[in-house]
Amino acid sequence: MPGVILDGRQLSRDIRQELRERVTVLAASAVVPKLAGIIVGDDAGSASYVRLKEKATAEVGLLSEMCHLPQDYTQRDLLTRISELNRRADVHGIFVQLPLPPQFNESAVLATISPAKDVDGFHPESVGRSWLGQESFVPATPAGIMEMLRRSGYGDLRHRHAVIVNVDNLVGKPLAALLCHESVSANITLCHPDTPCLADWTRQADLLVVAANRPRFITADMVKRGVIAVDFGTNYVQDTSAKQGYRLVGDIDFEPVREKAEAITPVPGGVGPMTVTMLLSHTVEAAERLAAVS
Ligand code: GUN
Repeated sequence: MPGVILDGRQLSRDIRQELRERVTVLAASAVVPKLAGIIVGDDAGSASYVRLKEKATAEVGLLSEMCHLPQDYTQRDLLTRISELNRRADVHGIFVQLPLPPQFNESAVLATISPAKDVDGFHPESVGRSWLGQESFVPATPAGIMEMLRRSGYGDLRHRHAVIVNVDNLVGKPLAALLCHESVSANITLCHPDTPCLADWTRQADLLVVAANRPRFITADMVKRGVIAVDFGTNYVQDTSAKQGYRLVGDIDFEPVREKAEAITPVPGGVGPMTVTMLLSHTVEAAERLAAVS
């Protein structure tokens, strides 16, 4: 039987409904969670992603304040702006959209965001706390993957082998931190997408998470039967039958891998919708901590 499809859109709708209820509770204490975002420069992809975040905040009753700064903005002025947002009592969550233009020192920028408002979980204190198993914000994509697994009944990964084909700070490393947390206790392998004989690793995976941005990179012969396959690939491929002439596909060759999988996330409609939802969830959480209602 083909694997269960993990529907990120439906899970996301469920979580957003729960968030609306939490926002209503906060309103009784006269608190409306506000997410402040900063985008610098002309990257069209980043701009559309920030618009998505802005729209999503309104949908669950949050406030947002998105600030679009010019490409030639300076590091000094950006740090000043972040410090102002840190001090504002009406702002509960802050993110700086990545990537930044080349004149910026990304690490220094991310380290300026107050850890209490670091809803992206990129501050070194948040990263360290997460590895130590302490409460902290974690990046939205790994948070979304864990939430999907838990809510779909695949959260019990004790002593199972999780293979992650990604080693970056946004997905691979923070997901590894969550999976090795005592409450999960998975065994973890982090693989570089270019590693020789990658299939030798992926075939061992009980949970396989791929974020390599290579269309249909993981084929059916690279997975074992019963795998839980999670795809965070975003690849636009030419498709003359599609209205726009292209189509969005993931890193996993969906149909053949689904035949062997116990469960699989689709692209689109899998992990993607969960990421923005987790950012909203973190903003509500930051406001709740401040109002001490949770
Ligand atoms: N660029 C790509 N993904 C992300 C994200 O999750 N947060 C931020 N701030 N920038 C990104």
